[in-house]
Amino acid sequence: MNYVGPNSKALQKRALEVAPLGVNSNFRFWGEEATLYMDKAKGAYLWDVDGRKYIDYRLAFGPIILGHSYDAVDARVIEEIQRGTLAAMTYELEVALMEKIVAMCPAVEMARLACSGTEATMHAIRVARAYTGRDLLLKFEGNYHGFHDHLLWSTYAPTGAYGSRRSPISVAGSSGIPKTMGDKIITLPFNDFEGFERVMKSYGEQIAAVITEPCQGNCGALDPLPGFLETVRRLTSEYGSVFILDEVKTGFRFANGGAQEYYNIRPDLATYAKAMGNGYPVAAFGGKKEIMSIIGHGVAQGGTYTNNKPGVAAAYATLSILEQEPVIETINRRGTRLMTGLKEIFEDSSIPTVFSGPPTMFSFAIGIEKPTCQREWAESEQEYYLRLMDAATERGVMPDHDAREPWFLCYSHSEADIDETLNVFADVVKEVKR
Ligand SMILES: Cc1ncc(COP(=O)(O)O)c(C=O)c1O
Repeated sequence: MNYVGPNSKALQKRALEVAPLGVNSNFRFWGEEATLYMDKAKGAYLWDVDGRKYIDYRLAFGPIILGHSYDAVDARVIEEIQRGTLAAMTYELEVALMEKIVAMCPAVEMARLACSGTEATMHAIRVARAYTGRDLLLKFEGNYHGFHDHLLWSTYAPTGAYGSRRSPISVAGSSGIPKTMGDKIITLPFNDFEGFERVMKSYGEQIAAVITEPCQGNCGALDPLPGFLETVRRLTSEYGSVFILDEVKTGFRFANGGAQEYYNIRPDLATYAKAMGNGYPVAAFGGKKEIMSIIGHGVAQGGTYTNNKPGVAAAYATLSILEQEPVIETINRRGTRLMTGLKEIFEDSSIPTVFSGPPTMFSFAIGIEKPTCQREWAESEQEYYLRLMDAATERGVMPDHDAREPWFLCYSHSEADIDETLNVFADVVKEVKR
């Protein structure tokens, strides 16, 4: 990777002495002498420690919806933290934020805050288990719901390990996850109507929750097939299981009301983080009052930092801007131009691509028919994709080089950024051999 300069390499050397892989998330390690270290970010741009500037389409794995270090958000945070950063007490802005979440998210009647998407899904499944008095969870292969042991199953494993579609093997995403937790989880291919119906018939009455990303934001932004989310809705209602929509990537990004609004689907519970705070640590989960009301009545939920002022102030400011300005509309317009331009570039070079996801969070797979699940998507040319993205990064345009991770757009990406990105890809596609 020619774009990794001497300062990144030197910083990595220091970091390797004090942190495993020299990073604080395995996903930020791209290899020894092959990992960029960041200096700063502003708007749609990021600078590495060697002073190179990039148009950023990774956006911190999705949270940046307005732009890096967005002035109006930062100003609100600074104003609020000068009046206290944290208290073991609830304050008005926190209540106003909850009111905003309830007003914006169609299926949310009551919510609770958390600090990360991992926490949000962890709390949501506890509530679902407590509400139903059942233990079993059902998730779909390729969906990622955070790092806790309950749901880190069949996320990124080589799909060969998943066994047959008819009776999938749930594969733990890490050593250290107790094997017994595998007894509590059923995994299925995404978009598999027949398999889902069969499993619900057999186990539906034991399933506490069916959790899914609405669009596979951790596996090439694969779209739900028409009717799939509705089928999940129908069968969870029929068997009394809680339908949890994991909107950590899609919330406040697909639309102001997230994927619920975009796909017109109403889960029982939903989880949020990322775009909600434009990069500050804040998350939420919420849904039907009847279900949420059991919290505090024998059901535990909380955390020292769940109402941290920087996160709450950032979320309040971000959601206010989403309400007042045409944020998603603008991103959609620019993202559509970017997707269309990229499609044309690949078509002109006779490289078969299939695009998925909406313009605010899209992806494309190379060399396969439109995939409907991770098993099909895994046949795409991921190594070629990686080399294309690396070549683009070398030229100052930075999508994630891991094909699972979508392209994220923000309000600060300009028309000129889209032009520059398309120019770079026109060159890259010619230069990088398939
Ligand atoms: C859909 C989804 N759920 C949950 C999480 C976990 O969120 P966090 O990284 O904030 O813990 C992620 C993170 O990428 C995610 O994409």
